Amino acid sequence: MRATHWVVRVLTAVPLLAASGGPARADDADLDRRLALVLSDAEFTGRIAEQLEDRLGRKLDRGVADLGRLLFFDRLLGVKLDNACAGCHSPAHGFGDTQSIAIGIDNNNKVGPGRTGPRNQRRTPMVLNTAFFPKLMWNSRFSADSGDPFDNSAGFTFPAPEGRTLSRQPHLLTAQAFIPPTERNEMAGFEFEGTNDDLRAEVVRRLNDTPNYRRLFRQAFGLDPEDPITYDHLAAALAEFQFSLTFADAPVDRFARGRRAAMTREEKQGALLFFGKAGCVSCHAVAGGANEMFSDFTPHVLGVPQVAPARTNSVFDGPGGDEDFGLEQVTGRAADRYKFRTSPLRNVGVQPTFFHNGAFTRLEDAIAHHLDVRRSALNYTPVGRLPRDLAGPTGPIRPVLARLDPLVRDPIRLTEAEFRQLVAFVRTGLLDERARPENLIRLIPDRLPSRLAPLDFEVDD
Ligand code: HEC
Ligand code: HEC
Repeated sequence: MRATHWVVRVLTAVPLLAASGGPARADDADLDRRLALVLSDAEFTGRIAEQLEDRLGRKLDRGVADLGRLLFFDRLLGVKLDNACAGCHSPAHGFGDTQSIAIGIDNNNKVGPGRTGPRNQRRTPMVLNTAFFPKLMWNSRFSADSGDPFDNSAGFTFPAPEGRTLSRQPHLLTAQAFIPPTERNEMAGFEFEGTNDDLRAEVVRRLNDTPNYRRLFRQAFGLDPEDPITYDHLAAALAEFQFSLTFADAPVDRFARGRRAAMTREEKQGALLFFGKAGCVSCHAVAGGANEMFSDFTPHVLGVPQVAPARTNSVFDGPGGDEDFGLEQVTGRAADRYKFRTSPLRNVGVQPTFFHNGAFTRLEDAIAHHLDVRRSALNYTPVGRLPRDLAGPTGPIRPVLARLDPLVRDPIRLTEAEFRQLVAFVRTGLLDERARPENLIRLIPDRLPSRLAPLDFEVDD
């Protein structure tokens, strides 16, 4: 099949060449043909977003999603009342962090560069497209054991105390929504006494005590007036909002669906490098269970410098308390030390910082790091890059480099032009326009059903 396809394309290219007479047109046709082949060899279809409702087995419920949006922005979900999901997952950055390392409770209510407070342990990832992630979190600690987040038949595994108790939830994101309000340093605070279930019961009690929420849940879920709101309703609403943030229609998707003009020449050349000699796709995978998300959802040691905050309410690892052991925290196996999940790369161009601890603040630097990890890691300094409370001494790097993934051990040489192409592909070739800040900040509610004051978003564009 593929061979026939190829012949047809060559034949159609000939009259084009004759008509234009220019070598540029011929080059473009050749570039398009090569990229189309590479994408089909990689089993990339550009049609993943279309699968959302099929795989959910129903239509997206816009009413429930909109209630989820209000909840996502409301500090009522934090028992300490000083943080909401959106305090860390900011709409100005694809519902990801504005900071290199998240700031949870005891913050100054700002969301943006001016946010201050004690640091948690890692950077907040974007929630865009998480409907398709079979494993969640930097160390993959929440997973769908079927390998498919839409399929709970093999159960969902979470660390203790939840373990496998969330397996009856319909989707991995619905299960995940049980966790953030129980995280002490993120939303709950350390003062409340009780278990995770007690914390969830407290959040649900507050929702039930809020007439606006009673009404909104009743409408969204068709409840009777006497039916109480449960945590299942809350989790379903949060998940539905995140399902509605499926933004996987980037230039590369359109190109794969046949729109050859959807990508610029530079992005196309960058894509060839990404799927070819730059070796990116071997980890940032698209086929099968990767759901075209540009991640193998497998942890690797990438040699990222260990940023250590001056003030934290989390527990860091290692003798100096300045390290992050990554996957080892979950498995307890030293062989998993410093391993982090391959970042899904869609819409990464809207992020202000990169890697699990935001060590880099320019996409160029994050990509260059991969091309020569030792040089990048050994020459790294947070000074001048990161806010002052993250610019202190970094944790040790040599033990990290000693465990470096074999796939990134040898430097890859690219010309300057090739590097620019690769960056262009990652920055804009993978960007769905709907993920841009100007679109997403429109989702910020003016008022909240709880009547709590909204978060102060520092968005000036
Ligand atoms: C204090 C900041 C903070 C708050 C508040 C917060 N998150 Fe997160 N979120 C994070 C961080 C940090 C991670 C990654 C943590 C890790 O991997 O160790 C994360 C991970 C996630 C992920 C997984 C993303 C992925 O790529 O795997 C989802 C989904 C998510 N959060 C949803 C939510 C929802 C829903 C809420 C509110 C109920 C919420 N978060 C509240 C900081 C926060
Ligand atoms: C060995 C597997 C591997 C290969 C090969 C690889 N990456 Fe990565 N990449 C990762 C991992 C793992 C992370 C997350 C590391 C962390 O945060 O600790 C990552 C993170 C990134 C990020 C930062 C994303 C974010 O959200 O912070 C970008 C950009 C990126 N990779 C691009 C590339 C490009 C371009 C290539 C090809 C030159 C490439 N990667 C090759 C494993 C790989």
